[in-house]
Amino acid sequence: MQDLYGREIDYLRISVTDRCNLACRYCMPTGQQEPAEDVLSFTEIVKIAEAAAALRVRKLRITGGEPLVREGICTLCAHLRQIPGIEELALTTNGQLLERYAAELKKAGVDRLNISLDTLHADRYREMTRGGQLAPVLRGIQAAQAVGFPVKLNVVLMGGFNEDEIEDFVQLTREQPLEVRFIELMPVGPGAELGANAYLPCEEVLRRVPELERMGQTEGVARLYRLPESVGRVGLISPVSCDFCCDCNRLRLTAQGTLKPCLHSDKEISLRGIAGEALQRKLRDAIGEKPDRRPEFQPGQASAGGRPMYRIGG
Ligand code: 5AD
Ligand code: SF4
Repeated sequence: MQDLYGREIDYLRISVTDRCNLACRYCMPTGQQEPAEDVLSFTEIVKIAEAAAALRVRKLRITGGEPLVREGICTLCAHLRQIPGIEELALTTNGQLLERYAAELKKAGVDRLNISLDTLHADRYREMTRGGQLAPVLRGIQAAQAVGFPVKLNVVLMGGFNEDEIEDFVQLTREQPLEVRFIELMPVGPGAELGANAYLPCEEVLRRVPELERMGQTEGVARLYRLPESVGRVGLISPVSCDFCCDCNRLRLTAQGTLKPCLHSDKEISLRGIAGEALQRKLRDAIGEKPDRRPEFQPGQASAGGRPMYRIGG
């Protein structure tokens, strides 16, 4: 349905867990992770997705934490994909467990995958993820492609960390049918504490790779580019330098069952324990609460969203 500003809200992101098998420095604070007992059951998630579909939400994305650590995730995906009105089901993963799950996710009807990968160097990967291994991710990407998934790689740009890998990431699109999406580091949770030099605008990609040609289309919030004659393409996502709120079409459901109308606001609406008409009404309320645009980011300060990224899933 349309919100107050004429935006068609047709996309629901569903975080299925706060747990993660990595602990990326810009996402996961150090210290104890919240216990996962209070998460929504699959039945509750499906009910909420059905209510959203009745309000003309057409696209779902499963996020986490890391969604593949939630037991039975493929079963949930199969149920969600069968909801009348849902035309697309996507999932964002860090790829650690993807080799094991790719075929099953495909069979469950998942349409596309986004895989988070910020570096192609094993040592940097280990450092950024606090101990993760790169090789399983690379095998996961191959497995996903082998079973026919369209794959997008999410690369968070970070000054002093991966800016020297921009060309290498872009080169991957020359021969592989991948979309490499560069994402500006948002001041969310620990992402705000990496220091002033960590943030790089997406324009840095165009400065380093001037051969990139703008493609006519945009896709959601991504501006699309390609190298001449490349198979894949490059997406630039600029939540900081551009603010694409006027194109925002999404709602976010947390693992604990609250809806966030905006990533950068601490407003949350609990959907726990309600059904039928009341659930529909809450969803409408949440859409009505979507702000015109986000507040300005303040230098060195975390955004007002109130949750680090692992608790909302991007
Ligand atoms: N800024 C931008 N992207 C982020 N992600 C996590 N934290 C941030 C941040 N502060 C990305 C992850 C993943 C997606 C879900 O969100 O790398 O690709
Ligand atoms: Fe949407 Fe809020 Fe993000 Fe803007 S800041 S794009 S309104 S979620």
